[in-house]
Amino acid sequence: MKILLTGAKGMLAKDVIRSLKDNSELICTDSDELDITNQEAVLKKVKEIKPNYIINCAAYTAVDKAEEPENYELVRKVNAEGPKNLSIAAKNEDAILVHISTDYVFDGDLNLSQSYKEEDKVNPVSVYGKTKLEGEELIKENLDKYYIFRTAWLYGDGNNFVRTMLKLAKDKEEVNVVNDQHGSPTFAGDLAKIIKDAIEKKIPFGTYHATNEGFTTWYEFTKKIYELENIKTKVNPVTSEQFIRPAKRPTNSKLDKTKLKNAGIQISHWEEGLKKYLERENQK
Ligand SMILES: NC(=O)c1ccc[n+]([C@@H]2O[C@H](COP(=O)([O-])OP(=O)(O)OC[C@H]3O[C@@H](n4cnc5c(N)ncnc54)[C@H](OP(=O)(O)O)[C@@H]3O)[C@@H](O)[C@H]2O)c1
Repeated sequence: MKILLTGAKGMLAKDVIRSLKDNSELICTDSDELDITNQEAVLKKVKEIKPNYIINCAAYTAVDKAEEPENYELVRKVNAEGPKNLSIAAKNEDAILVHISTDYVFDGDLNLSQSYKEEDKVNPVSVYGKTKLEGEELIKENLDKYYIFRTAWLYGDGNNFVRTMLKLAKDKEEVNVVNDQHGSPTFAGDLAKIIKDAIEKKIPFGTYHATNEGFTTWYEFTKKIYELENIKTKVNPVTSEQFIRPAKRPTNSKLDKTKLKNAGIQISHWEEGLKKYLERENQK
């Protein structure tokens, strides 16, 4: 099985590479080697390699910087035009496109007793969310053989929430963390395993919600990180209104994974994912 991977230096990409490198022929490209916004380059590369799968780990992920008007064009190019180019290239060469999307396609206003299903009404409230949704739509317009995995609250080999909270704990006796956003922290290693299993099991094409199991808040997540690392820093719950950031975050980021589980994919609980991640980080 030949796989072309884009955005190879990104956080998720590193775990996808770890998870797929032994059982497939992986051709990894970073943004210097393949700029997904360059349609001509994308079509040429895919024609030359003729992969069975293209896994798109490239994206513009700085959600707050995306709100700055001077960045709009670039954000849209990477998150919408990029997936479009990859889907056209995949169609030309009869390849399957694996693309990663986000909980930010939803506004997050769903009642907290419920979680979002794949077919629920989308309504992104940030530039990042809007461009990621456009990326999904352009893939669907151009290609039938695709997997879109919507994930959330991802952490792995790169700057992420867990590393930030561990760093803060070194200098601070207390930290304030929002307690009114609800979702599933997702270990990139577990998402990479989901992608690998989906490919190997040849699950039906389409859009899937793909995070770790279970739901929590950033506040509870931080308490768990500190508990597992035996850190005494006090964690104070605050509201999103006390912690204003340029991009609005969904209050409810809970994604329902029934569709993925019904397709035969096993998903670990977020606490298990966190334990595996901390073990790996502590071995470095
Ligand atoms: N992180 C999260 O919490 C989260 C949550 C939900 C969904 N997601 C989605 O999950 C996926 C992976 O996210 P991540 O956190 O691993 O992202 P990341 O660490 O920011 O990596 C993204 C990669 O994309 C590359 N890239 C940017 N523009 C490119 C272009 N024009 N052509 C080729 N490569 C380009 C970047 O390379 P350069 O640095 O060289 O530009 C970077 O290596 C993304 O689709 C993201 O939207 C992430």
